[in-house]
Amino acid sequence: MKILGIETSCDETAAAVVEDGRTVLSNAVYSQIAKHRPYGGVVPEIASRNHVAKLPGIIEEALESAGESYESIDALAVTYGPGLASSLLIGFSAAKTLSQRLGKPLIGVNHHEGHLHSIFMKEDALTEDAAFPMLGLMVSGGDSSLVLMHKTGQYELLGSTIDDAAGEALDKAAAVLNLGYPGGPIIQKTAEGGDPNAVRFPRGLDQSDRGKWIYKYDRNLCFSFSGLKTSLLTFVKNLDHAPEGDELRDICASYQEAVTDALTIRVDRALDLFSVKSFACAGGVSLNRILREKLTALSAKKGTPLLLSPPSLCTDNAAMIAGVAYEKVRLGLTGEEPGDVNPNLRLANW
Ligand code: KG4
Repeated sequence: MKILGIETSCDETAAAVVEDGRTVLSNAVYSQIAKHRPYGGVVPEIASRNHVAKLPGIIEEALESAGESYESIDALAVTYGPGLASSLLIGFSAAKTLSQRLGKPLIGVNHHEGHLHSIFMKEDALTEDAAFPMLGLMVSGGDSSLVLMHKTGQYELLGSTIDDAAGEALDKAAAVLNLGYPGGPIIQKTAEGGDPNAVRFPRGLDQSDRGKWIYKYDRNLCFSFSGLKTSLLTFVKNLDHAPEGDELRDICASYQEAVTDALTIRVDRALDLFSVKSFACAGGVSLNRILREKLTALSAKKGTPLLLSPPSLCTDNAAMIAGVAYEKVRLGLTGEEPGDVNPNLRLANW
């Protein structure tokens, strides 16, 4: 079964054709990073205007490089949340129109589920049966959360960030240090050769006695990155000069260490609390080399396999959306076609 996926939840305009859920026949992505760079972050209005301009060409590109056509695909899949309302609407309207025009089913997919599912979309990936129950760490520019995945479509949110996302913390740090956008890859590069222990930045939520729960979530499995960001801001303000050279390298290495420690510590705790066959990390921040090293070391320590997405599927893409849609079709759980986008969509059981 060939599914055309469409993804426009933030600033990537993406379309892909995936066969039987795992074989990526094409994965076309137009990254709008250059358009948003002058503003130091994603500007929703600019994002939606670029989706309007680029999406038709990106869909054509995805079909062409897969050697497929509108007629030959079996179904369409689209991200209907969470994300920026004005961005989601562009992909959603396009997918709905195509579905009606072609008379082919449309399957709505949760963006976070797409990220988490992408770990299965590579040749040497474990099967779902071998991987579940699995602990999932979702780390992107918009969200950071820990999810207990009982099986495909059966999820339990264990904890999430109570303020900034991990990617956002890196993006904001790069802005504070005048390094550009997006911050994650820039901080990683600038940190090379730096001392990760030069500055002790906070790991968030660790030194509080304000109770064990945040809403219904275990405080020890939730993240907080806003204090870390403020701590960097204060540190830099207290310097009487703009850091550069070795000093800048050390600051970036220490900051990256704090972000990746904060994530790894929670995964470690969750692995002690829940019995799982594997754990996974997905989303843009999962590209981070130091985070991958720490999680790999944790995997060895716990004797629990670590599953990572292929690099081409870590940042936003439509292949992961088509991949989840196939699972819904396979399990007969496509449900009703979504009537509208939902910018605050939560992970829900199928
Ligand atoms: O998953 P994604 O493409 O977008 C969202 O759904 O939010 O993730 C984008 C985020 C950005 O915050 C970016 O700075 C971060 O992923 N990122 C990285 C790296 N590459 C991208 N963070 C750390 N290290 C990287 N190498």
